[in-house]
Amino acid sequence: MRDIIDDFREMSRIFLAFFADLCYNVRMFSNESMNINAQGHLTFGGADCVELAEEFHTPLYVFDEAHIRTMMRTYRQALEDFYEGNGRILYASKAFCTSAMFRIAEEEGLGADVVSGGELFTALHAGFPADRLCMHGNNKLPGEISAALEAGVSRIVIDAFSEMDLLEEEAARRGMVQNVLLRINPGVEAHTHAYVQTATPDSKFGFSVANGEADRAVRELKAHPHLAFRGLHCHIGSQIFEKQSFVLAAEKCVAFMGHIREQYGLVCDELDLGGGFGIRYTKADPALTASDYRAFLEALCVSVKKNCRALDLKTPFLYLEPGRSIVGEAGITLYTVGAIKEIPGIRKYLAIDGGMFDNPRYCLYGSQYTAVLVSRAAESPVEKVAIAGKCCESGDLIGVDFDLPAAEQGDVLAILSTGAYNYSMASNYNRNLIPPVVLVREGKAELIVRPQTYDDLVSHDVIPPRLGRE
Ligand code: LLP
Repeated sequence: MRDIIDDFREMSRIFLAFFADLCYNVRMFSNESMNINAQGHLTFGGADCVELAEEFHTPLYVFDEAHIRTMMRTYRQALEDFYEGNGRILYASKAFCTSAMFRIAEEEGLGADVVSGGELFTALHAGFPADRLCMHGNNKLPGEISAALEAGVSRIVIDAFSEMDLLEEEAARRGMVQNVLLRINPGVEAHTHAYVQTATPDSKFGFSVANGEADRAVRELKAHPHLAFRGLHCHIGSQIFEKQSFVLAAEKCVAFMGHIREQYGLVCDELDLGGGFGIRYTKADPALTASDYRAFLEALCVSVKKNCRALDLKTPFLYLEPGRSIVGEAGITLYTVGAIKEIPGIRKYLAIDGGMFDNPRYCLYGSQYTAVLVSRAAESPVEKVAIAGKCCESGDLIGVDFDLPAAEQGDVLAILSTGAYNYSMASNYNRNLIPPVVLVREGKAELIVRPQTYDDLVSHDVIPPRLGRE
């Protein structure tokens, strides 16, 4: 009898695996994080997502640790292979900033970039070494500058003239010299959403090479004795797939390195080319594997070395700052379907227990996502639905074009590729609670951000005595 049961189990496993192959929503994601188990449930990082939803409730952010580590190693190895290890990968922590992430980045030998006092504090709280931190920001506050110097961050990227003076003053007060990079705007229009382009002529970031501001910044920096110029920084934008845009930016940076050596006798020891590599959200996006990301780095490294050789410049120490491509596909969000509304001739809405407070990216950028019905992940889609959040706002949607099997109230949905810029942009809008985060390793999930409570929400409220109750 037991044999028959085992045979039956094996047959259903093969049968389901076959169906899994048909389910494009899962199959289209070529990463290793996702699968469908014998029960037909979506698994992520080896954990059954139905069980995750039962144990931790929804909405829930889920991260696959193996995917994060693989991406970090891919980048490190590429720098080793194509640049003789003469550089450092800085994880752009804005993509997903929690203490546990800094622990992983440190274990993997990465540095990190931080853009605010809060990100800096989180890194230090996690025990991340300050000498592997690089501080960004287009308007660093005096308190942030002083916290960065106090901590001893390795590099500060200067983004404004006023900041140069603030930093000089603070470094002088402390009797120290701070290593800095200058953020330049090389004027490269990357093909991506306008809100995440950062090197167009009309950008709040960096000193423009084209209008002479970058030259002026170099000249002024020389007059600040407590700031040591180490090199240049540029970041052209985010969610970019064209290798050519990155290479063009790198070429322009190296050309500017040559220009400032000639013009001002200043040597650039370092070059930071930012982040921005795209990931897959839907089948319309290319499916990049680790070797594609390696190829991005190879193209950049080859270009920098070649152009430096041509100008007789020393090959600079290279920084890269990937964020989204490290954590984006490593994360999904689980939701439970609540109200279902069909508007005849228009569309069907599935309302979920999350929304713009845990993922504002559709509202902000019209970002597209892919959904999977977690308990019947192998089933083929039968309808197109909109997924609506629970906020009091018509625009509160995760998207309007999801292909799904017929979902019912109580079903758990997974939205894929939510690892980057979802948790980090979450809010308490409508006093909804920001979902907890679990990290899955070999099928076992652990909380890395515990659930908020309503008490947390009111814990910062103050009632002035004159409004107090008797
Ligand atoms: N370095 C700098 C200076 C940056 O400004 C950024 C991203 C990165 C690195 C990392 O770029 P990544 O590799 O993650 O593309 N909230 C938007 C994305 C904003 C990106 C901001 N800067 C979104 O949800 O798409």
